[in-house]
Order: sequence, then C-alpha cells, then structure tokens
Amino acid sequence: MTQPIRFHINDKPVQADAGDADMALIDFLHERQDLTGTKFCCGIGVCRACTVATREGGDDVLEKTLSCSTPVSAVENMSIYTVESLGSEQALAPLQQAFLENFSFQCGYCAPGFLMAATAMLSHLKRAPVPASQLDEVMETWVGGNLCRCTGYVRYMEAIRKVALPYALGGGVQL
Ligand code: FES
Ligand code: FES
Repeated sequence: MTQPIRFHINDKPVQADAGDADMALIDFLHERQDLTGTKFCCGIGVCRACTVATREGGDDVLEKTLSCSTPVSAVENMSIYTVESLGSEQALAPLQQAFLENFSFQCGYCAPGFLMAATAMLSHLKRAPVPASQLDEVMETWVGGNLCRCTGYVRYMEAIRKVALPYALGGGVQL
C-alpha cells in the first residue's frame, strides 16, 4: 500500500502515511494526532480500556472498536470517535455527567473505554429501542467486557442505565 490512508477522527478528515498502515490505531491517535484520552492497558484485546466508537459510511449507528488491536489500515474510510469527541467546553455529555454524579470511576483510567462503548450502545438504542426489561442484557453486551481495576462496575452500570433508560421501550420519554 503506497497511497495515504484516509479516514475521519472526531469528524475531522485525517490521513495516515502508507508507512503507518500497520500501526495500532491507539498509537496513531496518541503519536500522530495528540489525542491521548484513549487509554492503553493490556494491549491484547482483553481489558477494553482502549475502546473507541466507529462508524462506516453514512450509517448513523456506532460500533465499538479496540484501538490497541486494530491497525490503521483497517479503518480506511471509516469515522473514529474518541472520548475527546464527547461534550464541550461548556457541558459534559450526558454519560460523562452521569459517571461524575454517580461517582462511577476512581482513578478514571478505564472511563474513556466505558464511555465510548456506552456511546455506541446508545446509538443502537436510539435506532432500535428494546423493552426496558432487556436493558441490563443489552448493557452487558456492550460494556460488560470492560474491565475496571478499581472495581467500579456497579456504579458504572447504574450511571449508564440512567442515561439509557429513556431510550428503552417503556423506560421513559422517547427521544
Ligand atoms: S488495551 Fe486492553 S483491550 Fe486494548
Ligand atoms: S476507575 Fe480505575 S480502572 Fe476503572
């Protein structure tokens, strides 16, 4: 591959040199884009600290992608969303706010991974709500594999549930 690899990060067009094709996406984020919010931990696809949200084409639903195990070449033409895409200077995103209010994280190292996996989950729920009774199961699918060394699981799940519930059938206001 000799052509640059083009994709978007947080809605900004970027291109990677062909020589960076085999670089892990998280290294590209850190070293080429100065986006250090995504965290590196196990490096072997187990802890999910490095989760980013991704989108292909014009689809508006997001998927979760492990940036430690994904080479730059694999995200050509895709849109990548990192934790830096959430919220603004003026206001946190609802999930960030809920994590804060719920005292979900302690050291916070795992928080970006939880945030981006839950963000992808919300995009699916917005498109295809599930009955509120199935929400815990859906949450388990999307964020159940994320590890937290500080064992903040219960508080994370409570916060995510609070934000996700309005998107579930019978869970509250439909958006
Ligand atoms: S750093 Fe652990 S799964 Fe990527
Ligand atoms: S809050 Fe420390 S690793 Fe999760």
